[in-house]
Amino acid sequence: MKKGRLLTGDRPTGKLHLGHYVGTLANRVRLQDEYDCFFLLADYHILTTRLDHLEEIEENIREIVLDYLSVGIDPGRSTIVLQSAVPQIPELQLLFSMLVAVPRLQRVPTLKEQMRDLHITQPSAGLLGYPVLQAADILSVRGEIVPVGKDQSSHLELTREIARRFNEMFGTVFPEPETLIGEVGTLPGTDGKTKMSKSLGNVIYLSDDAEAVAQRVMRMYTDPKRIHPTDPGTIEGNPVFTYHEAFNADRAEVDELKERYRAGRVGDVEVKKRLARALNAFLDPIRERRARFAARPEVVEEIIVEGSRRARAEAQETLDSARDAMKMAYYRGVRDRA
Ligand code: TRP
Repeated sequence: MKKGRLLTGDRPTGKLHLGHYVGTLANRVRLQDEYDCFFLLADYHILTTRLDHLEEIEENIREIVLDYLSVGIDPGRSTIVLQSAVPQIPELQLLFSMLVAVPRLQRVPTLKEQMRDLHITQPSAGLLGYPVLQAADILSVRGEIVPVGKDQSSHLELTREIARRFNEMFGTVFPEPETLIGEVGTLPGTDGKTKMSKSLGNVIYLSDDAEAVAQRVMRMYTDPKRIHPTDPGTIEGNPVFTYHEAFNADRAEVDELKERYRAGRVGDVEVKKRLARALNAFLDPIRERRARFAARPEVVEEIIVEGSRRARAEAQETLDSARDAMKMAYYRGVRDRA
C-alpha cells in the first residue's frame, strides 16, 4: 500500500547530469516504492522565459525521459507525464488564477531572480503565473508530497495557499501538499564551484560516454596548493574526493586514497584515474538501460502517452470536482455533449 501521491517536475531545459542525480533523481528512484509517483515534464513552464529557444524542447524532452528511465524510474510503477498533453492543467490554472492577487505573485522571490538574471523588465502574465501553473500541476492529480529543491519552496507555499483558499471558499477538493526537501546533497561542479550547472560548463552528464567522463575528470579542479605528489593534500572542499564519496562503491579504496593523499603518498593523476574508473562503473548500467530505450523510441513514446493519459483522467476528475464545488455543474452536461 502506497503512502500517498507524489508529484514533481522538471522544465525540459537540457539533459540531466550527476548533480541532478545526487540532488533529486536518486531520491525519486527510492520514493517510487513508497508513493504513487508522477514525474512531470513541464514544457509549458519553458514558455514563460524561453520563447526564443523553442526548437530545443522536443529534443530535451526525449533526453530527459531517457535520463529518467536510465537511472531506474520505472514506468511500471511511476507515471511520466507531458504537461502539455494534459489540457486540464491550464484549465485549473485559469480557475486558480482567480484566487491569487497579482501583488502576491509579484512578491514571489523566483520571479525577481528570473527578471534579474534574464534582464526582464516587464514580466508577461505567463511568467507571473508560473507558480500558479505549478500549483495546477500538483493539484491536478491531487498531489500530497512534492520533493523539490529549496529554491522551489515559495512555489509550494503558494500552492498550499491556493488549495486552502479554494477549499475555504467552495468546499474541500484539494489536499494541501507538503514539500519534501530531502536530506540530499548538492554536488559541486568539476571546477570545484558549489554547484554543477550547465551554464557554468562544469558538468558530467548521465549520458556522457566513458571517454568524455575520463577527460572531464582528468581536468578536474583539485587541491590548488598541491604541486608535487609528495605534498600533503587537502580532502575538504576537493571535488575529486567529494565525487569519490558520492560514486565510488569501493569504500576501502576511497579511505585508502584519502589517507595517502593527506600524507602526500599519491598523485592527483592516480586519484583521478581511479575516480574515472569508479564513475564509469557507476554509469555503465545507466548507459546500458539508456541504450536499450534509445533503440526503441516507440516504446519511450508509449510510456509518455500512457502516463499522460493516466494524468489526464485524474486531472479531469479533479476539474469536475472543482467545478462542481464552484456550482458550475452545468458544465459537465455541456462539456460531455459538446
Ligand atoms: N518549477 C520547477 C523547477 O523549476 C519545475 C516544476 C514544474 C515542478 N512543475 C512542477 C516541480 C510541479 C514540482 C512540482 O524546478
